Amino acid sequence: MNLPQASSASPAAPATVPTPLVRPRLTFIGTGYLGATYAICFAELGYEVLGVDVDAQKIASLASGRVPIHEPGLDEILRRNVAAGRLRFTTDYAEAAEFGDVHFICVGTPQRADGLGADLTYVEAAVTSLVPHLSRKALIVGKSTVPVGTAAWVEQLVGKHVPTGVEVEVAWSPEFLQEGFAVEDVLRPNRLVFGVRSAWAHQMLLAAHKGVFDLATTEDREVPVVISDFATAELVKHAANAFLATKISFINAMAEICEASGADVSQLARAIGYDDRIGKKFLRAGVGFGGACLPKDIRAFQARAQEIGAGEALRFLHEVDLINQRRRTRVVQLAADLLDRPYGPAGPDLTGFRIAVLGATFKPATDDVRDSPALAITRKLARHGAQVALYDPKGMANAQREQPDLEYADSMVDAVTDADLVCVLTAWEEFRYADPKALAGVARGLRVIDGLNCLDQPLWTAAGWEYRGMGRPNPA
Ligand code: UDX
Repeated sequence: MNLPQASSASPAAPATVPTPLVRPRLTFIGTGYLGATYAICFAELGYEVLGVDVDAQKIASLASGRVPIHEPGLDEILRRNVAAGRLRFTTDYAEAAEFGDVHFICVGTPQRADGLGADLTYVEAAVTSLVPHLSRKALIVGKSTVPVGTAAWVEQLVGKHVPTGVEVEVAWSPEFLQEGFAVEDVLRPNRLVFGVRSAWAHQMLLAAHKGVFDLATTEDREVPVVISDFATAELVKHAANAFLATKISFINAMAEICEASGADVSQLARAIGYDDRIGKKFLRAGVGFGGACLPKDIRAFQARAQEIGAGEALRFLHEVDLINQRRRTRVVQLAADLLDRPYGPAGPDLTGFRIAVLGATFKPATDDVRDSPALAITRKLARHGAQVALYDPKGMANAQREQPDLEYADSMVDAVTDADLVCVLTAWEEFRYADPKALAGVARGLRVIDGLNCLDQPLWTAAGWEYRGMGRPNPA
């Protein structure tokens, strides 16, 4: 086994400790987006895997070979591994305890209803449901994104609930999955972070990732591993997401400056991105970031920093959030401008206009509409009186569940038919490569807002459309 070098050698001297199990049996508790993807991909890596959830419907769907979320490639891998007998699903914690050597906690940590912090109810439920059933030594590994200090708290919970005489250890190993690329991110991670307190836990984690290392070896790659204490491992995730959110809000702040000065943020981003120290990625100005992670994580991070007396260190994240929210309002301003409606203190009155919204998901290649800028903007437009027709290639069912009162169109052309304004709010290929001439034939007014600066502006302008981008001057 060609194990990677740990880039920090904190708690253990792993080379001298024998691997306790070559291929431990793995459970993934919580089969939402994170846990389902991990369970399926680790079965693909050759592990015997059990996916666990309290939601019987989800478990039945997975067991029958259907992934309840849209994630490219996942369905096929699920079916292959269920058929091979390596992957099973259950709602029974006693079965999970009996089966697993390493238990990954993958449950959600949503924003608390009463504040900015993370709600740890599901983490607590997973731990306290599993631990009383354990009858042999096991490792519980947190994967969920949590406030710093959670792993130590989980250790205490374990101590309270573990049967006498059974030894259970805790570790933390954050995930860095991007929706739409999740399979690749699990099979070929760009790094692994192991927060551990003992050599045994370290060895178990290495054994639980042997498949990842073996795959890397066959492809002549290395997977860097950072070994750390609990607090660092927990913070890595919040820090990474805070950095990404800040980068996006930085370029969106530049978009505001460009709007005020007549400059073009797309060219500006390209020009600064050539500097390797800055980099091109995550410099796309637009409607801002959304999804299940970035928005809630920067809030939970601030809340936790406040609790531990370091609130000032993250005050800038409040600004990052505000810049992000302002981008949503900017689309409404552009709509009012294009439709020639005054923007009063309560916003514009868009009554009488039909607006086609193309895109509901928070980004392409997913069906996820959680904290989606596209959906939030659609709601705003509807609230200002517009008759909105929404279409998304993959996110319709989720959007309808979250926003049942909106009007939904069956196709892009249906949405655009008779529209006075078209807003492209998710950068799906179907929209980016749409034929503006054909759409001009069905729309009532040729006005388009390019919320992601993803359309070929000269092409749309040539087809007669009045075009508005984000942070870009109006075409002559
Ligand atoms: C993110 C992190 O990338 C991932 O590492 C972490 O594990 C979970 O959160 P994800 O939520 O899947 O992943 O989305 P990501 O691709 O990071 O995009 C987040 C949001 O930022 C999207 O709304 C996207 O449209 C937006 N974005 C991204 C921009 O507005 N501009 C950019 O340049 C890049």
